[in-house]
Amino acid sequence: MGVGTPWWRSAVVYQVYPRSFADGDGDGVGDIGGLRTRLPYLAELGVDALWVSPWYPSPMADAGYDVSDHRDVDPVFGTLAEAEAMVADAHDLGLRVLLDVVPNHTSDEHPWFQQALAAPPGSPERERFLFRDGRGRSGELAPNDWISRFGGPAWSRTVDPEGRPGQWYLHLYSPKQPDLNWRNPQVWEDFERTLRFWFDRGVDGFRIDVAHGLAKAEGLPDVEELTWPLAPEVDADVEHPHWDQPDVHEVYRAWRKVAESYPGERIFVAEAWVDRPHRLVRYVRPDELHTAFNFDFLVAPWRARRLREVIDGTREAHESVGAPPTWVLANHDVAREVSRYAREQPDTPLRSLDDLAGLPGHLELGTRRARAAALLLLALPGGAYVYQGQELGLPEVEDLPQEVLQDPRVRQTAGRSRGRDGCRVPLPWSGERPPFGFSPAGASAQPWLPQPPSWAGLTVGAQTGDPDSMLELYRAALRLRRTHPALGEGGMRWLEAPEGALAMARDPGFVCLVNVSASPLPVPDGARPLLASGPLDPSGRLPADTAVWLSV
Ligand code: GLC
Repeated sequence: MGVGTPWWRSAVVYQVYPRSFADGDGDGVGDIGGLRTRLPYLAELGVDALWVSPWYPSPMADAGYDVSDHRDVDPVFGTLAEAEAMVADAHDLGLRVLLDVVPNHTSDEHPWFQQALAAPPGSPERERFLFRDGRGRSGELAPNDWISRFGGPAWSRTVDPEGRPGQWYLHLYSPKQPDLNWRNPQVWEDFERTLRFWFDRGVDGFRIDVAHGLAKAEGLPDVEELTWPLAPEVDADVEHPHWDQPDVHEVYRAWRKVAESYPGERIFVAEAWVDRPHRLVRYVRPDELHTAFNFDFLVAPWRARRLREVIDGTREAHESVGAPPTWVLANHDVAREVSRYAREQPDTPLRSLDDLAGLPGHLELGTRRARAAALLLLALPGGAYVYQGQELGLPEVEDLPQEVLQDPRVRQTAGRSRGRDGCRVPLPWSGERPPFGFSPAGASAQPWLPQPPSWAGLTVGAQTGDPDSMLELYRAALRLRRTHPALGEGGMRWLEAPEGALAMARDPGFVCLVNVSASPLPVPDGARPLLASGPLDPSGRLPADTAVWLSV
């Protein structure tokens, strides 16, 4: 990173999903106390910042993405004082802290929504959300045809205290997550207050949940046959009625000003599932957000042509607005990459194992590809994200018993989707059996999702010091990334390479070679390996599904 380059342009950010990271008090749910004790692990891993998924008071209908108070901490995670202490500890270790702000919706238990339910149609209390009369003779039909992201209609009907059905309210996610009305000035004011509340407590920025959802088209028109993402044949500039609406950018222009009123570099990263790069980069124009997750890269199958297209498309679009790209393989919403890559790869985007149902998985193959993908991820120009457990090579837990599944998507699809619990299983830290050091010795409760006994070999303890482990690969790559002048932000170019290979050169003197084909690949003459995701073959060639960083 060049002197004077803002930290976030090349940062590696580690996602902490607090309920599954480390349990300090032994109730089986991760918490801030546990996180504080593990901060030295993150500093030693070599990441620059952490992003903490929501820790706010919540009935936990969507694991905390249903917030009932944006300016406090849920008792299951700890206290506000502990949160402040965590931020201070992280700063002492040289780690920045990003929180997760959830502006598209609240919990139905948020006081505002409770007030809205108690108030009549047309009242100012209802104006903060999206209440509408139903269609049909007696309002018995939903106001429009919008579908919840979790399945089923995006509208639920209210019932008054006498049991009479009333208006409907919009929820793009679960019925316990009513959408806010971003045409209401009180909503704007309240979120600015929330940003300031946490900026005042020293946080370095926010990940913005569902950043592409806040603005809805005037009149809430039917979606009709439009899908999201838009089908490839749909014109690039067709507006979807409730995703990626142009008005959303006004919000982020205002938020940027809030961030800039604070000392230091306070930043935002957009969670915007917008798969057309020229639309995604509107979120990172110079007066809006700083960075955006690159979901295109995340959902790309392990295929050279597709990876290269995504890398080129991303870079070109980001260059047009002067923002650094980010590179992401995983988060708490998608199947872990070890398991995605363990299957035969389709040509189409791939985010859930539901997309691959029925295909047998080979975890050894998935792990080999995930190791190669890690070296690609950390060699690309810009910032990168690491989701907790990615550095341990954890697979998706695919056989969680139905009765432990908690993701609302499972219920809303009547079990057709396995949901997202399989990537949220508590981390294994040490020891031979569950809870693998996730909870302290003598804990009163089991981890909130059961850990597979086979994870004994994947604990931090088991991998530490093993040069062939995923953890040591990440540690070594992050160490090199910090010191090698070619890595982080900057340029890159493709070198000529055989079909199925990616050969990326960065100055000075760096090449990353990734073999996405089935046959071994020659390594350029005179190049010295710095780090490889697996051993070269006896004749010095790079085997299939392997990557190497070279000094040239
Ligand atoms: C985001 C979160 C996801 C959550 C949804 C609704 O996509 O990452 O976990 O369910 O928003 O808040």
